[in-house]
Amino acid sequence: MKKINIIYWSGTGNTEAMAKAIAEGAKGNEAEVKLLNVGEASVDDVINADVVALGCPSMGQEVLEEAEMEPFVESIESKVQGKKIALFGSYGWGDGEWMRNWVERMEGVGADLIEDEGLMANNEPNDEDIQKCKELGEMLAKA
Ligand SMILES: Cc1cc2nc3c(=O)[nH]c(=O)nc-3n(C[C@H](O)[C@H](O)[C@H](O)COP(=O)(O)O)c2cc1C
Repeated sequence: MKKINIIYWSGTGNTEAMAKAIAEGAKGNEAEVKLLNVGEASVDDVINADVVALGCPSMGQEVLEEAEMEPFVESIESKVQGKKIALFGSYGWGDGEWMRNWVERMEGVGADLIEDEGLMANNEPNDEDIQKCKELGEMLAKA
């Protein structure tokens, strides 16, 4: 069975709501889906998965959260050549720069991105955002 691991950081729950909707979309598609807070995830959770979704909001000044997510992403950079990866996250007042940079960064280390742009929601995901997250989950199961 296909292993899908969804690994995320979320401060106020917006990215977490996206992660849960992605998991919901992926389930029931003959996939084994694990939802992991980045604090409880290890590099093996990336290596051993067929498909990985990584979620993090825009923090600092258009960067990944620096205490847990940034070090985690650094730790997997040398392990994701050819790995099917999707990126998602919530943002506030910016224009999505953090996500553009993150996409470029993961492509730069050879990840096979499932979505070209990364899935973003402005602040709390609305119904349409949640629907897109569920669709992304289905895409992960079929990737
Ligand atoms: C310390 C901090 C820094 C932030 N920096 C940015 C930023 O640079 N650009 C942006 O668009 N939003 C920024 N935001 C807004 C968050 O991305 C937004 O509130 C998001 O919904 C938080 O997602 P979460 O609920 O998953 O933590 C920042 C929020 C915090 C708390």
